[in-house]
Amino acid sequence: MKNILDYKVLKEVADIIDRMYLLGWDERNGGNVSYLLDEEELKEYLDLNKVLRTYPLNFDASEVKGRYFLATGTGKYFRNTKNDPETNLGIFRVSEDGLNAELIWGYKDGGKSTSETYAHLMCHIQRLRVDPNHHVVIHSHPTCTLAMTHILPNDEKIFTKELWKVMTECIVVFPEGIGLLPWMQCGTYEIGVATAEKMVDRRLVVWGLHGIYGVGETIDEAFGLIETVEKAADVWLKYRQFKEINTISDENLKGIAKFYGGVPRKGYLD
Ligand code: 13P
Ligand code: ZN
Repeated sequence: MKNILDYKVLKEVADIIDRMYLLGWDERNGGNVSYLLDEEELKEYLDLNKVLRTYPLNFDASEVKGRYFLATGTGKYFRNTKNDPETNLGIFRVSEDGLNAELIWGYKDGGKSTSETYAHLMCHIQRLRVDPNHHVVIHSHPTCTLAMTHILPNDEKIFTKELWKVMTECIVVFPEGIGLLPWMQCGTYEIGVATAEKMVDRRLVVWGLHGIYGVGETIDEAFGLIETVEKAADVWLKYRQFKEINTISDENLKGIAKFYGGVPRKGYLD
């Protein structure tokens, strides 16, 4: 059996968590990451018949029964994850009835997956329906994106267009726009449902006064979406206090999207 600490997915997840901490987006235990694992690959590292313990998921996740997820632990600090993955991360399988997590590895100190496990699993379920190659859900608290939600109305068209107009690349990276939820109690079933609903045709959802969710087939995609939003939000905050004399017009945005083959969200530019 190979050493799980050499598993490339685990290393990649620990690396991105460390980077997000260093970017200042994930203070303390802020943020969480989950990754849908490949069973055949995982078998090379762990005895999948050995369940360490189980805990309830408190909702019906049977659409992903038997699937394996690597996820950050609840209350665990991003800062500590790279140095101690076995305490701060865990790998669990969703039970056959979809109601429990069967822990295969990690959460060494008796912990369990993130308090946002509802939102993570619901987003995985939703994205798998529209993208069979989907693997990654990242939740983070990026500084400037979060700040923007204090200033703009709870309107996802306005939020998206403000960012599209900040820098040319935005409409290339997220032509489908950004979903936006008003402040809601985090960690709940309800915020999970609301987030996953927005993921039907989007890969980014901002939580007002809290943070952001990004999904993707790879860490690069999920992280790349979030870092593009955060970069644009940073620039937006820098110039909004001045008089803006140049902007990207709706016609320009249409042209950029067309050039790169993206389809801007319907109703946003017409
Ligand atoms: P967890 O520590 O439970 O992952 O929660 C952190 C967080 O960001 C809640 O939204
Ligand atoms: Zn959070």
